[in-house]
Amino acid sequence: MVTVTKICCIGAGYVGGPTMAMIAQKCPDIEVTVVDISQPRIDAWNSSELPIYEPGLDEIVFARRGKNLFFSTDVEGAIRKCEMIFVSVNTPTKKTGLGKGKAADLTYWELAARTIAACSESDKIIVEKSTVPVRTAEAIEKVLQRNCPHEGVRFDILSNPEFLAEGTAMTDLNAPDRVLIGGKIENPEGQAAVDALVEVYANWVPRAQILTANLWSAELSKLAANAFLAQRISSINAMSALCEATGADVKQVSHAIGTDSRIGPKFLNASVGFGGSCFQKDILNLAYICECHGLHEVANYWHSVVGMNDYQKSRFVRRMISAMFNTISGKKIAMLGFAFKKDTGDTRESPAIDVGHGLIEDGAKLNIYDPKVAADQIKMDMGDEAMKRITCCTSHTEALTGAHAVCIMTEWDEFKEYDWEAIYGVMEKPAFVFDGRLILDHQKLKDIGFIVYALGKPLDPFLKGAEGV
Ligand code: NAD
Ligand code: UDX
Repeated sequence: MVTVTKICCIGAGYVGGPTMAMIAQKCPDIEVTVVDISQPRIDAWNSSELPIYEPGLDEIVFARRGKNLFFSTDVEGAIRKCEMIFVSVNTPTKKTGLGKGKAADLTYWELAARTIAACSESDKIIVEKSTVPVRTAEAIEKVLQRNCPHEGVRFDILSNPEFLAEGTAMTDLNAPDRVLIGGKIENPEGQAAVDALVEVYANWVPRAQILTANLWSAELSKLAANAFLAQRISSINAMSALCEATGADVKQVSHAIGTDSRIGPKFLNASVGFGGSCFQKDILNLAYICECHGLHEVANYWHSVVGMNDYQKSRFVRRMISAMFNTISGKKIAMLGFAFKKDTGDTRESPAIDVGHGLIEDGAKLNIYDPKVAADQIKMDMGDEAMKRITCCTSHTEALTGAHAVCIMTEWDEFKEYDWEAIYGVMEKPAFVFDGRLILDHQKLKDIGFIVYALGKPLDPFLKGAEGV
């Protein structure tokens, strides 16, 4: 079996950075080098202000950096010296060409594979960390084998999908439910490569939680896991609409069904919609793969999970507009939260983007405040035209002063701690709260005088008549 002493990771993003920091912490005898083509990203990893916000990450990086954790743009040098190479580059949805808007764009992956092939002078274990379509390893193997100029260099490919969630990445990595490693376990070399990676994780993960599988099962399991998780959110969000129509309370429904041990309580929080860089991209990719195999009904089933998510976001906007007397033209609306979930500054596919555009299209002016998202990021996400109607605020008070309504887009804990009585005092009347995350004390807000819309909760009498949205 290969004993791994040097690991390199191509891609210093939300996955590459935290996963490698954890390996460096747990395996002090392994030298870990994280490389990226982006100089600013690597500079940030080498600075006191890391490029991503993730609770617990700074401490580990600052403790291991310069000891057995290094960040560099010397991709080729790192490939040459390491026995094991993780590839954690981005695999977004294709924007053009065949499979546009559905298939995964493997341009970055292929580029990384070509670089590995070109500069590998000794045998390498290649670990797919990125989320990829099932059977990607087959294509990558061809690229590696056919492009390596050195005779006799052997590449063993493993699939080791990452299951961390942003905001809890370090606790997820520290104590994962499971680690999944796929390889060519039917042959001895493939099994040896799997064993080498198992040994790395066994430094801190109990062996019973390190699952091994064939390559295709591991690749597909990642897409399946994200599809199942997203499906739960779309299911409870579908229920939230029915709750509003019938007077049921979605929190009570999710508690009632979640206490059935076969269903379980997690991932049943109704919301304005799921966001993040993974769920939509991976479901579209899964559905595309189904289509390619002629499984149209299966593709349609998974597509409907994304369709329900889009419906939930537009339903929320319609609810806001109809509640505010069918016109929000010229009204100032405070948006609290812009990140796709709490404890991250990541805004990729955040529901706040679609809701924001929906409100602006109807003539509203937006005051946006998020504790971890900078104005530059909001500008990039919303675009120049929308920015004409947006003010990026540096405090919640700035966002709320003179606003007709406030919508909660992210479940940041600090929103619960605000002095809502004081907020009521500085807002226009009637003052509306639209809670897209169900985090506030709705009865207290009503007692203060707010008109409250809480997603999936029995409707405030003031909002009756706007059902069916
Ligand atoms: P990211 O965009 O944050 O990071 C990817 C990095 O790869 C970027 O810094 C980019 O510059 C770099 N890169 C691209 N091509 C390169 C090349 N040829 N050589 C060197 N560097 C290159 O992406 P991410 O969020 O870390 O996601 C990475 C992969 O992990 C994706 O496939 C994603 O689906 C998957 N994933 C993400 C999460 C998550 O929570 N973000 C969780 C599980 C899996
Ligand atoms: C997800 C998967 O959870 C993780 O395993 C995978 O590796 C990457 O994709 P992430 O997108 O970082 O992780 O966060 P997650 O906690 O899954 O939340 C995704 C979105 O769903 C967020 O917008 C969140 O607010 C929303 N969500 C989550 C709900 O609306 N309701 C819930 O009950 C749970």
